[in-house]
Amino acid sequence: MIKLHDIRYCRVGVSNLEDATRFATDILGLDIARRDGGAVYFKSDDRDHTLVYFEGDPRDHVVAFEAGSPEEIEQAAAQLERAGMPVRYGSDAERDARRVRAMIAFREPSGTQIELVFRPGHSGRRYHGRRDAGITGFSHVGLCTTDSRRDEQFWTRMCSAQVSDWIGEAPLLRIDEVHHKIALFPTTRSGIQHINHQVEGIDDLMRSWYFLRERGVRIVFGPGRHPTSGARFLYFEGPDGLVYEYSTGVRSITAADVEAGYRPRQFPFDPTGFCMWGSKPDIPEFRS
Ligand SMILES: [Fe+2]
Repeated sequence: MIKLHDIRYCRVGVSNLEDATRFATDILGLDIARRDGGAVYFKSDDRDHTLVYFEGDPRDHVVAFEAGSPEEIEQAAAQLERAGMPVRYGSDAERDARRVRAMIAFREPSGTQIELVFRPGHSGRRYHGRRDAGITGFSHVGLCTTDSRRDEQFWTRMCSAQVSDWIGEAPLLRIDEVHHKIALFPTTRSGIQHINHQVEGIDDLMRSWYFLRERGVRIVFGPGRHPTSGARFLYFEGPDGLVYEYSTGVRSITAADVEAGYRPRQFPFDPTGFCMWGSKPDIPEFRS
């Protein structure tokens, strides 16, 4: 069992690094941690960085999770190899760039690159975005899946994720008490489907709704409220069409909740399964 302690960062290829960087700082509200070669590292909380844009193929996406020890990384590598999934250990240059002590990379069954890292860097400098979007931190990703049952099994049987709820065939998976840190959306490609940052409250969401609309950013869903996690949300389009989400008020599912009988619930794969306020998604993976 590969224990996923937390989600750590995303690395995303962008076709125009300067335009994408402007989006990240001036629209999304992130803070530049550093520029390194052909990449820009962004902070959204106390961690060294939580998002990286690199000049490259916009379909090239990486999601990293934190492991508890170097032994856990070695055990994960052995388990993945046994399952026929090739594993690569990170080079010195890769570990330096990511500010991690140990690292492996592999592809999950739909093909997205996953990195498992040990001792990722924390920051001695607090996050302070140029735009006050109310961000409290990077929280979860939607991942594309070409076979949601197969991939749900990968994340829940080979890794430590648990299903919190389903929307149609899309499982929302938790790796700690937060309702979901990974959500798998059926489609025909691999990669990240959306990137979520938590914001402090509903006022931040609504301020961003007006702010983004004034600047011509395409809103693709919301403002709304997920009946699954209870989070209020706003989804919008970023560089190269990748979807970004702000949300607030996601529910926790604690060990006590599970002991008290919490079971994953099945929601319909229609707008009511995604939003209890009546907003309709303009996101291909959220529509049947
Ligand atoms: Fe989300």
